[in-house]
Amino acid sequence: MNDWGIIGIGRIGLSMARNMSDKGISLSIYDKAFENKLDPIFEEKNLYPELKKVYVFNDILNFIESIERPRKILILVPSGNPNEQVISKLITLLNENDIIIDAGNTNPLISYSNKLKIAKNNILYLGIGVSGGTQGVLEGPSIMIGGDNIAFKKVKDDLSLITSKTIDNSNSYDFFGDSNQGHFVKMIHNGIEYVEMQLIASIYKLLIESNNYSNQNIAQIFKDWNNNLNSYLIDISTKKILEKIDGEYLLEKIDDIADDNGTGRWMLNYGIELGCSLSMLSSALNTRFISKLKSERNELNKNIKRSSLEYKVDINSLKNAYNFCRLINYIQAFCLINAANKNYNWHISISKALNVWSNGSIIKSSLINDLYSNYSVENILYDKKIINDLNESKSDLINVISLSLKNDISIPCFNDALNYFDSISNNSLSTNMIQAQRNFFGSHSIKFK
Ligand code: 6PG
Repeated sequence: MNDWGIIGIGRIGLSMARNMSDKGISLSIYDKAFENKLDPIFEEKNLYPELKKVYVFNDILNFIESIERPRKILILVPSGNPNEQVISKLITLLNENDIIIDAGNTNPLISYSNKLKIAKNNILYLGIGVSGGTQGVLEGPSIMIGGDNIAFKKVKDDLSLITSKTIDNSNSYDFFGDSNQGHFVKMIHNGIEYVEMQLIASIYKLLIESNNYSNQNIAQIFKDWNNNLNSYLIDISTKKILEKIDGEYLLEKIDDIADDNGTGRWMLNYGIELGCSLSMLSSALNTRFISKLKSERNELNKNIKRSSLEYKVDINSLKNAYNFCRLINYIQAFCLINAANKNYNWHISISKALNVWSNGSIIKSSLINDLYSNYSVENILYDKKIINDLNESKSDLINVISLSLKNDISIPCFNDALNYFDSISNNSLSTNMIQAQRNFFGSHSIKFK
């Protein structure tokens, strides 16, 4: 009998199986793709010695029978239909107190309905967000958990074996609340990730289009910055800036069409439902949407006259502007967590989230450690230190934005950060006029000062 079962041996499932098996956790694994093979020889077993002891199944019933009860079954299949089909199937096959652990990027709304579905059969449910990508999951992922507390207690010792050490020297997993709250925290992580990625992409664009910086120069700037920033995303971007295929830079060969898996859209939907500004995420996501209009962009581009490009960029201002934007990104994400806590009566701790993200996650960087150690993150808008930091670098952000405007370079997310800061720190917005207009045509009541 094996300790755990894993369903779904894609890239992430394979890394998870390797990590768990390497730590001495005995595993049964099953993937729908194995069903078509007469002899389910798992080729990877030959590549990775740590998989030698793993039991491979091409039949889900035999797979389930091979796991010690109460069973712990980790699902790592893509979110949406494939994930829901696996869960529905498991409900018909598992016994009381077995634990279904949904480790996909599942929409928190779905995690909640899954829990209700599963609970009818007295099966336990954990919805867990797993960050780290293929390498991170292999070396020690960041894991955000929601669901049954009893189930959590049964899996936590094994999670301690496979995760990384965080800033407070605990393991990079934590329990955040009900079935949907682990996936909610992972969704927030992804929203932050989208903006962090877009900021780096915007900086690269501003520098490369200036005709004053080569890929080598830009990579060097990023490397210098990363001595302090320790950002995983800056690090991988540096590698990608330098990568070549057939003598040409990879970035010059990649088409500029960016996809998404939905997590950013769900976060924006939460923002709309809870009335929170996520303007930076919206801008990052809109950029991906616009990127998909390739033929329209090709057509319109023919009729647009751009400024001739050759300009200098003050690298120090750029770094300060970047830091400013990163802070606003976290502020917007924290405000959404606070609003969710208030409206849904949740108790998600922002400090705990930062701790779990501080190692193993895609967004790990010194900024997370800094926020965790030096700011009142649960009440970020009242933190004087952060407002002072932002105020100090605001003029650098304005310089960078005006440079981009003058030279027709779109640097998504930068303007949104400035606009948010200018609004959030202003006690006299243009919205008195909005109220007056609403009052005129809709007889909406107005509140006097
Ligand atoms: C992680 C990532 C990962 C996510 C990819 C793709 O933390 O390991 O967030 O879970 O699936 O980043 O996301 P998009 O396809 O939406 O860019």
